[in-house]
Order: sequence, then structure tokens, then C-alpha cells
Amino acid sequence: MQKETENIIVLKNVCKAFASVEVLKNINIDIKKGETAVVLGKSGTGKSVILQCIVGLLKPDRGEVNVFGKNIFGLNEDEFLEFRKKTGFLFQSGALYDSMSVRENLEFPLIRHFNLSKSELKERVAKSLDEVGLLSAIDKMPSEVSGGMRKRIGLARTLILAPEILLYDEPTTGLDPATSRDISHLIRKVQKERNITSVVVTHDMECVDITADRIAVLKSGEFVTVGLPEDVKKSEDPYIKSFFIQTNEKY
Ligand SMILES: Nc1ncnc2c1ncn2[C@@H]1O[C@H](COP(=O)(O)OP(=O)(O)OP(=O)(O)O)[C@@H](O)[C@H]1O
Ligand SMILES: [Mg+2]
Repeated sequence: MQKETENIIVLKNVCKAFASVEVLKNINIDIKKGETAVVLGKSGTGKSVILQCIVGLLKPDRGEVNVFGKNIFGLNEDEFLEFRKKTGFLFQSGALYDSMSVRENLEFPLIRHFNLSKSELKERVAKSLDEVGLLSAIDKMPSEVSGGMRKRIGLARTLILAPEILLYDEPTTGLDPATSRDISHLIRKVQKERNITSVVVTHDMECVDITADRIAVLKSGEFVTVGLPEDVKKSEDPYIKSFFIQTNEKY
């Protein structure tokens, strides 16, 4: 039993094609409890598809996605809902509902998943916003806050369900370096404080340095390496090396 709880996310020979294009050819990875795995790969290589397979939004053509020791595509409806409650997904845009205030955006998943009193709702929303440093935005509309704030509010809305897994799709893309750094530290902080198992898809090397316990590099539908950051960075493979070239040398 212990072994099952050790590896929280296990992908075994996962394959996924769209029309005749094989995007994922053979994806294998074991992610342990409390670990943050960062996925690197060129644009269009299938990183978002991997996240969508882990959360059950896409079903692989072949292979297994085992989360919390069970194949998620073998779960019944109640088990699947329970799994989704424990698995947070931070979309690139933050995916806030524009017609709802920040408070209502955060209340929404709580009302859907829990039967809480008004005061409990209020308390949890405030606590979650405070955690991302945005309690002051509680009565604002999404259109009134900046891109970085939207991402933090999106994270607060994900954290409010106290997930055991968090999947981040390009959490810092489009943000200035200082805000990106804040988000990366926030990812690390929640991972450490709550022992959350995370997968981070990013092109932001500072985010990799701050968050990664292990790095997986995706190429041609497979992970060409999965290893500790210090080992992956030492690779002589030109494709792998290309991710670690200092971008500021260009300027
Ligand atoms: N639902 C879908 N239907 C058809 N094709 C899809 C679907 N989702 C993804 N694809 C295709 O799969 C490939 C990989 O897409 P994916 O979004 O995973 O790339 P990515 O690695 O996340 O790229 P980026 O870094 O640009 O976000 C692309 O060719 C894309 O067009
Ligand atoms: Mg993507």
C-alpha cells in the first residue's frame, strides 16, 4: 500500500494522437508525493496535452494515467469527482469568470463541492486570497485587476479546494520578471507548506530554478530525460542544452 501512495502521478506508456498526428508517443513518468516536476519542451510538443491527460480532460489512446494509485479512466462518477476535487489545474489565463467578482469567483468552486455556511464561505475566501497577497482585491471585477493579479487569483481559486495535486500550465507567461518571480515563489511556498504534488509546464528558466525538484524534457512525443535539475543542466544533448542557454545574452 505504501508504494501506491508514494507515487502520486504515474504515467505509463501514454500515447495520444489527433487525427493522424501522434503527439504523445510513449510518455512515462512517476511523480512522488510533495514533488514538483517541471516539463520542458518546444511549443506544440504536447506539454498541455500531458496535463490534460493527467486531469482526465483528454483520454489517452493507449497507456495508463494512475493518480493516487488508481487508473483515473477506470473511476466511477463519484470517484472521478472526488479525484477532481483533489486535483487543481491552473490554466494559463487564470480562467476567471469575467461576469463575477473576485469573491464570487472563489466562492464558486466551494459552493459546487462543499456544503458550507455563509460565514465559513466568507472565511475561506478571505483566507485563500490572503495567501496570495490579494485580500484587497476581493470586491473587484476580473477586468479591474492586472494579468499578474489574475494569475494569483486563479491560484487562490485553485488552492481554496485544498488540492493534493496542482498542475500549472505556463504560470508565468506574459508577466514581467518581478511578477513572474513572485508567482514562482508562491508555487514553491504552497508546495512546501502543504506538501502538494505539482507539475509545472513552463518556458521560464527562473521559474524552473525556483520550483523544480525534477525536470522532464519532452521531444518527439517522449521524455528524452527525466532527472534532477543539476543533472539535466549538465546534459550535452543540444536539444536539452537549448533550454538552458542564457536568453539575456541576446540583448
Ligand atoms: N483537442 C485537440 N484537438 C486536436 N489537436 C490538438 C488538441 N489539443 C492539442 N492538439 C495538438 O497537439 C499538439 C500539442 O499541443 P499542446 O497544446 O500540448 O502543445 P504545447 O507543448 O503545450 O505547446 P505550447 O508551448 O505552445 O503551449 C499541437 O499540434 C496541437 O495542435
Ligand atoms: Mg501549452
